[in-house]
Amino acid sequence: MKNIVLVGFMGTGKTMVSKLLSTHLKKQRLCLDDMIEWKVGKPITRIFEEDGEPYFRKMESEVVKTVSHDKNSVIDAGGGVVINENNIRRLKEHGIIICLAARPEVIYERTKADTRRPLLNKPDPVASIRDILDKRKEYYKRADYTIDTSDISPEEVAAKILEIMEHKI
Ligand code: S3P
Repeated sequence: MKNIVLVGFMGTGKTMVSKLLSTHLKKQRLCLDDMIEWKVGKPITRIFEEDGEPYFRKMESEVVKTVSHDKNSVIDAGGGVVINENNIRRLKEHGIIICLAARPEVIYERTKADTRRPLLNKPDPVASIRDILDKRKEYYKRADYTIDTSDISPEEVAAKILEIMEHKI
C-alpha cells in the first residue's frame, strides 16, 4: 500500500486530517515535525531561533529520507517540505501526495492563536501568509491532488482523500 502524504501550507488541516485517516485506515501516522523535534531534541520554534531555518530544512530532509522507505503510512509533512525538489521526489517514490490548501484569511484564523509557527510570528501575519503562499505556489502544484479545505470540515477532507485512494489502489 502506498503512503498517503499530506503537504500544504500551515493551517490547512494536515494534522487533523492525517489523524482521522490513520485511525480510519489503521495505518501508522508519521508527523515529520514531531520527528524533527525528537531528532534535534527541542521544539521547532527553538530550532528556528537557535539554529536557523537552513538547519531546520536540513533536518527536515533527513527525516524525509528516513520515512520515504516506509510504506503503508499516513505522513503529515510540514508546510515547507515541498520547497526541496529531492523531498518531493523521495516522498513520491512510495506515496500519493495530497496538497491541502486554504484561503489566506482562513489560514490566519486557524493559526492566529498558535505561537509555535515561527514563520507566522510576524507583525502582519496575513501579509506573510500571502507572501509565502505566493512563493510556494509552484511547489505545491507538484502534488498529485489538491483539496481546498477552506469551507469543509476535516472529516469531509478525509472522506475526499479516501475516495481518491479507493481509485488509486
Ligand atoms: C513550516 C511549517 C510547519 C513547520 C515549520 C515550518 C513551513 O509545519 O514545519 O514551522 O515552512 O511552512 P506545519 O505546516 O505542520 O505547521
